[in-house]
Amino acid sequence: METTIRKYELSASMSAGDVLLQHLRGVVGASNVFSGSEIEERYRSDMMRKYSSTPLCVVRPSSTEEVAKIVQVARNAKIPLTTLGGCTGVVGGGMCLQGEIALSLERMNKIIEFDVESMTMTVEAGVVLQRAQEEAESHDLLLPLDLGARGSATIGGTIATNAGGVRVLRWGTMRDMVLGLEAVLADGSIVSSLTKSLKDNAGYHWRDLFVGSEGTLGIVTRAVLRLRPLPKSAQTALLALNDFGCVPQLLRFLDASFAGQLSTFELMWADFYEFVSAAQLQQRQRPLPLGSAVYVLIETLGADVGRDMELFERGLAEALERGLASDVVIAQTERERANLWAVRDDLTEAYKPLFPLAAFDVSVSLKDMPHLVDRARSAVQQLYPCATMLFYGHAGDGNLHAVVKLDPNDAAAEAKVEGAVYECVRDLGGSISAEHGIGLAKRKYLSYTRSPAEVALMRSIKGALDPDNLMNPGKVLPDSQTH
Ligand code: MLT
Ligand code: ZN
Repeated sequence: METTIRKYELSASMSAGDVLLQHLRGVVGASNVFSGSEIEERYRSDMMRKYSSTPLCVVRPSSTEEVAKIVQVARNAKIPLTTLGGCTGVVGGGMCLQGEIALSLERMNKIIEFDVESMTMTVEAGVVLQRAQEEAESHDLLLPLDLGARGSATIGGTIATNAGGVRVLRWGTMRDMVLGLEAVLADGSIVSSLTKSLKDNAGYHWRDLFVGSEGTLGIVTRAVLRLRPLPKSAQTALLALNDFGCVPQLLRFLDASFAGQLSTFELMWADFYEFVSAAQLQQRQRPLPLGSAVYVLIETLGADVGRDMELFERGLAEALERGLASDVVIAQTERERANLWAVRDDLTEAYKPLFPLAAFDVSVSLKDMPHLVDRARSAVQQLYPCATMLFYGHAGDGNLHAVVKLDPNDAAAEAKVEGAVYECVRDLGGSISAEHGIGLAKRKYLSYTRSPAEVALMRSIKGALDPDNLMNPGKVLPDSQTH
């Protein structure tokens, strides 16, 4: 493909960097290329305040064709690109390294088509998740993906990371919601399969390879998303349990009792519940007293307000009778529902005193989850006996989150804590990333979860699709010399 250069003249005295900027301005216009001091802070550091760097420039295309032209310009100049979505990833996957082009898809934020009959919506990658959710709701449909960062995360970012969140138990991860995909490859070509069908077995499904590839194989520009009927009822409760041992049985029992409506089963260990609810005491009372071993936030979503609540209350009463839980509070109003959710979901303010922190999103089988918590807790305590540690997670998916406050005076604290926790995960045959991806932060631990043969396969795929290593280099795969 030929790069079209509009308006901007190149002069013989220009540096290579200036020539590149002029070419990029020729593609997207001068007002959509920023360099040097024009680059805003949000493009320079990640949400976890862990990484910072200055991209060579930030480019903001408005169409797939412009993305393809930018890739051509980058390829000719041999300058790598990192694609930016909402910039709220937590593993540095969207962190533009020094001297790269940051490709921000924020202007590609159009909802292209809403097809009520097919129950799909076709969107550009820069659409913010919450806007897509609201658009679906306005058509009486549900985009089931939901997570705390809904107000900033973009559809492209949630595809790149195969985002999970709080409803995976019922509707799966982002991969289960992506029917069609369009992407720009490292050679500047566009691949597009914007199908609305659930079934399509015509050869290799490159779509599934791109979901979760963290921008390392190409740039996702548009997607067709699968929608569901909008639930008419939501029943929410918080349960207290005296020990973790009941959790698997409680989950099985509630899932069977609620006839397919169980959508959320979020587990909070006592340390997390106590810490977060204490931080929120000025806004709301603790919904259940302290003193239990674990707390579970559950929600059913259904179609019949009266009948669904009856089913919900009956199931919970029976769970109490069977001794699967010791206490329960059921939300009776939208406000009470929001208050229950806040303990699990509204973490930004509560977490502020925990920085600097190490955050984990690992997975093991539900059966092994309490062992992982015990092992990780004692491994960290051996290193730092007084460390604040909070455990919680999307238990229905085997996804455990942990947050450890790091000693700010110990430069090695993060590496030591990460190493200790990931060793516990490895020993239990779990995954070092359940949902946040590998990015920069977890590359060196990839071999704890993936065998040498798997890593070699990943390298082959990367090499075949991006032979010049231009697409988000340095992410996901460890340096080949060291691993
Ligand atoms: C969540 O579940 O809230 C997010 O994955 C972020 C996290 O807590 O690590
Ligand atoms: Zn999560």
